[in-house]
Amino acid sequence: MTAVISRQIDALLPVVGGDLAAPLVTGECRPYANLDYAASAPALAGVASHVNELLPFYASVHRGAGYASQVSTGVYESARAIVANAFGARDDDVVVFTRNTTDAFNLLAGCVPADRGDVLVLDLEHHANLLPWRDRDYRCLPVSSTLEQTLKDLDSALAAAPARAGHRHRRVQRDRRVAAARGDRHHRASVRRPAGRRRGPARPHRPIDLAAAGIDYLAFSGHKLYAPFGAGVLVGRRDWLDTGRPYLAGGGAVRQVTLTDTAWAPAPARHEGGTPNVLGAAALARACQLLAALPAGAQEAHEAALQERLLDGLAGLDGVRVHRIFPDSPGAIGVVTFSLPGYDPGLVAAYLSAEHGIGVRDGKFCAHPLLLSRLGLAAGAIRASLGVGSCSDDVDRLVRALSEFLESAREVDVRAGRRPLDAVPGPAAATGLGAGFHRRHLALRQLIREGVSPPPL
Ligand SMILES: Cc1ncc(COP(=O)(O)O)c(C=O)c1O
Repeated sequence: MTAVISRQIDALLPVVGGDLAAPLVTGECRPYANLDYAASAPALAGVASHVNELLPFYASVHRGAGYASQVSTGVYESARAIVANAFGARDDDVVVFTRNTTDAFNLLAGCVPADRGDVLVLDLEHHANLLPWRDRDYRCLPVSSTLEQTLKDLDSALAAAPARAGHRHRRVQRDRRVAAARGDRHHRASVRRPAGRRRGPARPHRPIDLAAAGIDYLAFSGHKLYAPFGAGVLVGRRDWLDTGRPYLAGGGAVRQVTLTDTAWAPAPARHEGGTPNVLGAAALARACQLLAALPAGAQEAHEAALQERLLDGLAGLDGVRVHRIFPDSPGAIGVVTFSLPGYDPGLVAAYLSAEHGIGVRDGKFCAHPLLLSRLGLAAGAIRASLGVGSCSDDVDRLVRALSEFLESAREVDVRAGRRPLDAVPGPAAATGLGAGFHRRHLALRQLIREGVSPPPL
């Protein structure tokens, strides 16, 4: 571990919170090492300033004749156009603004006609792309031990899906493809070919082009795209979105209403009942523009270098196991899943936070079937994920912290789930989160550092 990899891709894309200080249980503060980008990425500074610029113009969208309403409506609709352009949407595709990916998949599930086409879901999906399909006939396809074989199986399953007689969109119907944009390597691998044969998915880490890749629908969240202002997107083919069940019944989603009848509007309005999140949509669109303006390959190179550094560091630790779904998945992105056999992942994550100011994700990552059945990780795992604001120091600190954990934990009987012994300094305590939030690491700290038994509960 030698070369220093700086934050923010050499300051091209600063993030808000890149200089955050995290309070430790010792009472000191450390620079916060955010290694949880795959869950929610911090806002780009350019996104936050754009939102601030727009705030004075904030007003109703599609509802007002006044100046600010006109501006807000224009901002909202141009955000739609920017997103369509950023993801290579076809001319007749529709961008629907949602709350997040989960929302987008629920919307889509209500639009895929029940009598047309089969829904195939891989058994490693995130719950957001698993649970919405459960109200209808769908088939769960088990993944194989290699990506190549899984993609072959998927292609065969798609080819074998029965074409319904008399259907106008026979070809498309058998073949419609859905992708979720996320930062998690195994999932990305799983959607790689079905979602896009020519390019990897998706903008948080890689460019994506719906038309070129033959993707019919793409769902993603602003908060994974450095635009955490509560908007997500479903973008794709118009036909099913125009005829599908209106997702959010209410004002704006209709052409005309009588006391007995409703004439629904076509998409996107059909699914966007109520006052839309114009600032969220504008933030998301600005993030697309800022990411697209990075020099070609810069983001990929940054993440690949950090990921390699992390994998190298973990490989040097006796007691850490790195997990991958597919040994043959190509294209590194900045996500590494690992476990410390014998130690509760939640405890390790809490230790990293409380003792080192490092933020990671632990648990089963909202993909229970994947973790339980496929990876055999009943207790879950730990996920470190990187992004544009990450640097080599974040990675090196994580590796050092895990090394320290393993060294000290070997000396004592580390048990999870004990009661906290003291309060946590800083904002966590001030918000009342302290005791519960740090429960597990405080027990660990007691055991490791002070060597005394916790008091009875
Ligand atoms: C692949 C995938 N799908 C869906 C989701 C759900 O996203 P959201 O929580 O923004 O709805 C995530 C979030 O982790 C994800 O990684």
